[in-house]
Amino acid sequence: MGGVFDRRAVLWGGTATVAAVASAAQAGSGKSTARPGFLWGSAGAAYQIEGGNYASDLWVMEHVKPTIFKDPSGDAADSYNRVWEDIALAASLGFNTHRFSIEWSRIEPEPGQISLAGIAYYRRVLETIRKHGMTPFVTYNHFTTPRWFAAAGGFETRDNIPAFVRYCTLITEHLGDLIGVASTFNEPNLGALVSWSPAIRPLRPYIEMSKKAAAASIGAAHWAPPVLGDFRIQQPIMIEAHERAYEAIRKASNDRYLVGVTLSLNDERAPPSGPSGVEAKQAQVMLPWLQAQGDFIGVQNYTYTEVGPDADLPAPKGVELSQMGYPAAPEALEAVIRTVARHTRKPIYVTENGVATEDDTRRVAFIDKAVAGVVDCLRDGIDVRGYIHWSLLDNWEWFSGYGPKFGLVAVDRTTFARTPKPSARHMGAIARKGLPAGVKSR
Ligand code: BGC
Repeated sequence: MGGVFDRRAVLWGGTATVAAVASAAQAGSGKSTARPGFLWGSAGAAYQIEGGNYASDLWVMEHVKPTIFKDPSGDAADSYNRVWEDIALAASLGFNTHRFSIEWSRIEPEPGQISLAGIAYYRRVLETIRKHGMTPFVTYNHFTTPRWFAAAGGFETRDNIPAFVRYCTLITEHLGDLIGVASTFNEPNLGALVSWSPAIRPLRPYIEMSKKAAAASIGAAHWAPPVLGDFRIQQPIMIEAHERAYEAIRKASNDRYLVGVTLSLNDERAPPSGPSGVEAKQAQVMLPWLQAQGDFIGVQNYTYTEVGPDADLPAPKGVELSQMGYPAAPEALEAVIRTVARHTRKPIYVTENGVATEDDTRRVAFIDKAVAGVVDCLRDGIDVRGYIHWSLLDNWEWFSGYGPKFGLVAVDRTTFARTPKPSARHMGAIARKGLPAGVKSR
């Protein structure tokens, strides 16, 4: 089996790509964008946009008392029915990739019971992305698992790893011929990351109550939805699951596409005074995943954090916060890419970056600054292969429900009509022509 560098050469024509991207994406170049291989696009995740994912673990948790979810996901953005429109819209903006996830609970609603209709559905999704000339960037698992998997102990037990590997193999065998780039998990390090947040600690008992209620509601002895698990138990198991899935996907796809993992990474900063926990936090949150097998690292960044010796510190006073309550910090992306590049030579994709705001002019400014940072990284020879904005649509933002607006495209909550915001056109223009004149990278 060829290593990552062999495949990279086949897929992108080797190292010349980086120089081509860097020059074409130059600030203010206004030139056309024959940028072989550099991916520009936007992302979504099945559970946040499709709607009606009844067989998923989180659906159960949204409907128990107490629940930790602000709004039930319900119909979400009705993308299950409107994905064709969404893909056409993304392509019309000028994007050349579309990142989406496959909902495991639609493929395997009960253990071993495979939905051929579910597989056929995602095949049509992939075909549609290809038909529009975009590269499908597929996440095999974006947070949610089938409810039976959570009831079987999720990733809190090694015994469940084979079920995940089987699912990944199945997807690859049926859909792998259409996949362009893939990640096994989305942000499997999120549990480790949030364990540093003082805000999460008082919520723990409440989360445990809600998990117990979910188990009771379906008569299960256990209840371990990965997104709410104890990372100390889960992380080593998920690393093993990722590595075994990675091998299985390579084998089943005949090594046809790159397979990596995407990580939730803040720009971790030492506090202006007092001891810093940056190294300890990175050792928990980032390094184990950078050392795991995989062809690339997906960087997902939204903000920075000042890190005290054993917990994150509150955001500095007076800085602009996003609707998520953390600093809106487009410059954090460049810092994170550089940190990752200091620790690994693997290629990097920015698989998520964005800001939750009602003020779309803030999003436009955010995009310019974040992309300028990517351009600077490219100029310095860092192997960044793409920038994928989070997200295409305003969608269901997990515990925060329908409040935060991350989308380039607004979605009417009653008609589901899609309305591109100015930021959508702006991001599309960057994808087609590079940064606008006047936006300086360095
Ligand atoms: C997740 C997305 C989420 C986004 C914004 C990432 O953690 O992958 O599902 O919506 O951040 O909070």
